[in-house]
Amino acid sequence: MTKIEGLGDWKRTQYCGEVSDKEIGNTVTLMGWVRTSRDHGGVIFIDLWDKTGIVQIVFSPQVSAEIHSRGASLKSEFVIAIKGNVRPRPQGTENTALPTGKIEVVVDEMKVLNESETPPFELDEEQIGEEVRLKYRYIDLRRERMQKNLLLRHKATQETRKFLTEKGFLEIETPFLARSTPEGARDYLIPSRLNPYSFYALTQSPQLFKQLLMVGGADKYFQLVRCFRDEDLRKDRQPEFTQIDMEMSFVEKEDIMEISESLMKRIFETAGHKIKTPFTKITYDEAISRYGVDKPDIRFGLELKDITDIAKQTDLKIFHQVLEKGGIVKAINVSGGAETLSIKVRNDLIEYIKGFGAGGLAWIEVKADSCHSPIVKYFKEEQLNRLKEVLGTKAGDLILIVADNKQITNTALGSLRMKLAEDLGLLKDVEPFSLVWVIDFPLLHYSMEENKLEFAHHPFTSPVEEDLKYLDSEPEKVKSKAYDVVLNGTEIASGSIRLHNRALQEQVFKTVGLSKEETEEKFGFLLEALKYGAPPHGGIAFGFDRLMAIMMGEDSIRDVIAFPKTQKGICLTTKAPSSVNEKQLKELHIKLDK
Ligand code: AMO
Repeated sequence: MTKIEGLGDWKRTQYCGEVSDKEIGNTVTLMGWVRTSRDHGGVIFIDLWDKTGIVQIVFSPQVSAEIHSRGASLKSEFVIAIKGNVRPRPQGTENTALPTGKIEVVVDEMKVLNESETPPFELDEEQIGEEVRLKYRYIDLRRERMQKNLLLRHKATQETRKFLTEKGFLEIETPFLARSTPEGARDYLIPSRLNPYSFYALTQSPQLFKQLLMVGGADKYFQLVRCFRDEDLRKDRQPEFTQIDMEMSFVEKEDIMEISESLMKRIFETAGHKIKTPFTKITYDEAISRYGVDKPDIRFGLELKDITDIAKQTDLKIFHQVLEKGGIVKAINVSGGAETLSIKVRNDLIEYIKGFGAGGLAWIEVKADSCHSPIVKYFKEEQLNRLKEVLGTKAGDLILIVADNKQITNTALGSLRMKLAEDLGLLKDVEPFSLVWVIDFPLLHYSMEENKLEFAHHPFTSPVEEDLKYLDSEPEKVKSKAYDVVLNGTEIASGSIRLHNRALQEQVFKTVGLSKEETEEKFGFLLEALKYGAPPHGGIAFGFDRLMAIMMGEDSIRDVIAFPKTQKGICLTTKAPSSVNEKQLKELHIKLDK
């Protein structure tokens, strides 16, 4: 049995990673975890770890037989404190890869502060299953990569606060327990014990509160705020996530863009990265037309080309069936694809594209003086030449074509473009961070699923003045003052200039089919506030987890969150959510319908 001791009057003199050759000859007191242990001819070497890194400590029989044998009994992840002498490592044994690699600490005294069972995974292993990492997150967090991510996230948080404070913003907290308002995603509901049969909703974002703060004269608000959304989860979506949320009064979109760009510059600097400002701007229509999606990764080509006009002239039946239903035909050109994409791969791509609802994917191989494809017989020479011209092909290229309704064609081909970029390694030599503003979004879009008009952003977004005339007659034509920031093909921020005019806000609610009663019931408090001198205002919210993940080169936002949830919304460490007892339910007047 190892004897466990208390700290007593021992005080740490420095962190493990901070012991340098300047300390040679000094006595230090260090505390941390036993990482690896090596027995070299009777001398025990241990890497002692804390959040700053590792330092080599030595248990030598020359100091005392007792300390040596105690050193030999230490196991991985035991928590110890040592007092010892710093000496240079013998020549030839230095480790230049380590900041503490020139020295070692010869242990005189040691206290074992706690034992540890053998950890469920090796801490220096890279390929560990995520489930076991999340179950034992407190051990996973001791890994270098996670420590680095936590540290950088902390720095970015502090820099954000500093920057926005310098710019005159106030950090103001807003409620998490709020009224359920339809904002897009499903709400997390919290029953109110004191108000039976009533529920709070956890805020999906502080959107309405930050607008009320503007009415309250706050002028410039920000908050690093947790948001809660009951959505289907993915690697860039968590049920609770953090936003850098901002709102400003008496501004236009250019003001918000400028401050956002400066903020991003500062945040990227915390990780030693330089980014280009101003960001590239692209309109929503252009993004859809060239990239098929409203969050384009513009770091590589493979752009979508509309070939509806050419398709019209061919004899291919499927094209005509699609066109008769108002569909479109678009294509991309894969450089060298005739060789790099085998028939089997093309068949896999067809299956992939079907996942987006597209009927299929046609291909045409471009040869030096001809084209090869099962569908080429339906094209006349002149149409093939036009096709090659529009797509800018050369011999050896492969044209991929999708014909379907506008939405499916764009989404399917836009996603295929991203997949091919990954598969063909097109992202290898591109700039590491490309930040793009997507602007001129439509105010509303028609939802095929719901069969009604919906807000493209949220209900509080201002339409552009010139388009107000279409609000009643052709609402889908109305553009809004909304803008998104897209980083390497991921939407990392979204914002808009808001409606501060009550009558116009009411008119917009009416346009999506909300009755006066529904509007009053759902948004009455906002409409009331707009009566009392609401200033023109606008803002933006950055998805902080997404931003951090991309900045740190992580594939999933779970790797930049200390205690994330799984795809099924479960916290594997604490096993939330869980059942609750009868008494708790009774107090809330809840009966389970099992
Ligand atoms: P929006 O809903 O677009 O806008 O959210 C802003 C940004 O938050 C991030 N984000 C998420 N990150 C992780 N997990 C999620 N489930 C998740 N959902 C969204 C995205 C997104 O761009 N109130 C408005 C902003 C405004 O108009 O000022 C809002 O919340 O990066």
